[in-house]
Amino acid sequence: MAHRHIPVMLEEAVGFLNCSPGRVYADCTLGGGGHAGAILEKILPDGLLIGVDQDRDAIRNAGEVFARNTGNIRLFHGNFTQLPEFMSHLGIPSLDGILLDLGISSDQLKHSGRGFGFHADEPLDMRMNTDLTTRASDLIGRASEKELARIFFEFGEERRSRRIAKRIVAERNKKPIRTGRQLAQIVAGAVPAEARHGQRIHPATRVFMALRIAVNKELERLDCFINNVVAKDGGRILNPKGRLCVISFHSLEDRIVKRGMKALARECECPPDFPVCVCGHKKTMRILTKKTVRPTEREITSNPLARSAKLRVAEKL
Ligand SMILES: C[S@@+](CC[C@H](N)C(=O)[O-])C[C@H]1O[C@@H](n2cnc3c(N)ncnc32)[C@H](O)[C@@H]1O
Repeated sequence: MAHRHIPVMLEEAVGFLNCSPGRVYADCTLGGGGHAGAILEKILPDGLLIGVDQDRDAIRNAGEVFARNTGNIRLFHGNFTQLPEFMSHLGIPSLDGILLDLGISSDQLKHSGRGFGFHADEPLDMRMNTDLTTRASDLIGRASEKELARIFFEFGEERRSRRIAKRIVAERNKKPIRTGRQLAQIVAGAVPAEARHGQRIHPATRVFMALRIAVNKELERLDCFINNVVAKDGGRILNPKGRLCVISFHSLEDRIVKRGMKALARECECPPDFPVCVCGHKKTMRILTKKTVRPTEREITSNPLARSAKLRVAEKL
């Protein structure tokens, strides 16, 4: 497989991680290994990077790319919510930094053969982790019209969600919908020609993104990572001054990150009219990015996939 993912906000993210020799990091979304390579360079000769990805192809690729660095990198196939398990397997109690670069890699989009893109005639799979049991074709084939509309509206912010869901159900009753191209054509057919005219993106873009998010339970996993894994036991997964950097591409992801970081940086969660604190909540992190960091115009021009990226960073106290 040709690996062509261009890492997004590489300098900014790696800068915020404050890497130096001997430190220990986790890149929880290895993808094509762009960020991981930059982190590794800065922590050599005696640092350690834990690399996690739920896509076996990404782990296999990283094994090849970092074959010379086996002393400084440990690779794990699995969800980033499993990070504490991977750390205890290595006997590592805490980290100096964690990177999440969310969403899909261009390798998955273009070369995985799993129907992430709507131009290819590939099976409509969309599982990043092929151990999952539900594929996109299962959702498209079995979910009720109402459920499909909910997925498209909630995860894709698709205004024509009900109309598209209705068309999908009508079409699947005639013939099973098996490929991305088939689905893209059905969705395009459900969108009125005048609405399609002048649109910058393919009419199926939001539906495909919504399906991918649903199949991989992306928002649930992110929420669990920030609010359970990072927040657990006063944030002990990070060393003092250890940093959590998250690059997101979707407004719902960014909302989870923003709210999660705010909760970690808040001293007390009692309602404002309580005379004394009864929640016992302690502030464990401080937010370093009061406003989200966005890619430069230059980066967006050279890599249009970066255009919706937002970086947020919090530091352990
Ligand atoms: C945008 S790419 C990361 C690109 C990478 N930073 C690079 O420089 O090449 C996102 C990667 O994260 C993985 N991923 C997404 N959600 C995940 C999760 N919950 N657990 C583990 N890996 C995940 C995807 O499989 C994909 O390979």
